[in-house]
Amino acid sequence: MTRILGICGSLRADSYNRQLLAVLGEYFPEEVSFSIFDAVDVPVFNADLETDGDPAAVTALKDAIAAADLVVFGTPEYNGSIPGSMKNLIDWASRAPNPLHGKPAAIIGGSTGRFGTAHAQLMLRHILVYMHCPLLPGMVAFAHLRDSFDGSTLTDDAIRGRLEKTAGAIMDWLAKVEA
Ligand SMILES: Cc1cc2nc3c(=O)[nH]c(=O)nc-3n(C[C@H](O)[C@H](O)[C@H](O)COP(=O)(O)O)c2cc1C
Repeated sequence: MTRILGICGSLRADSYNRQLLAVLGEYFPEEVSFSIFDAVDVPVFNADLETDGDPAAVTALKDAIAAADLVVFGTPEYNGSIPGSMKNLIDWASRAPNPLHGKPAAIIGGSTGRFGTAHAQLMLRHILVYMHCPLLPGMVAFAHLRDSFDGSTLTDDAIRGRLEKTAGAIMDWLAKVEA
């Protein structure tokens, strides 16, 4: 059984990025167990919170990453970078023992702006290189997302098609990384 974990950089209930991850998950083969981590209870990082052991939500995050064969990050773009909540999750995960170290990873992202998270994704790549994560090559970015959703439902078949291709590319690439 291959396990793939989605981590979303948005806490918004109707997050486009969580939906993009969820639709991506529909296209993995049956033998893949895909889940999206619910980050809403992860506190802002503060080393004092580690004194009595990690908060429960942080333990859940680190366990989920450790159990995954690959992590897909779904990132929005805030002010040309990743949201603080995404950086916060990575900062928590990076505390020893760091389950992200060397973990195969992929990045997708979408925004309502015209660059579709290109800036944020480059910054996220930089951070994940620091984590020694082998990263799916290329960029999967979606712009002007307000036109592609009805509420939290993806209505754009072209995006669905790209997500289907991305799921295939992730599986092919994971096989190469694990070979
Ligand atoms: C604080 C803030 C800053 C933003 N900055 C950008 C930006 O730099 N580029 C962009 O394309 N969209 C930007 N947006 C719009 C987001 O792309 C949009 O809110 C998107 O829906 C967030 O992703 P989500 O739907 O997964 O929550 C910003 C939104 C917020 C709240």
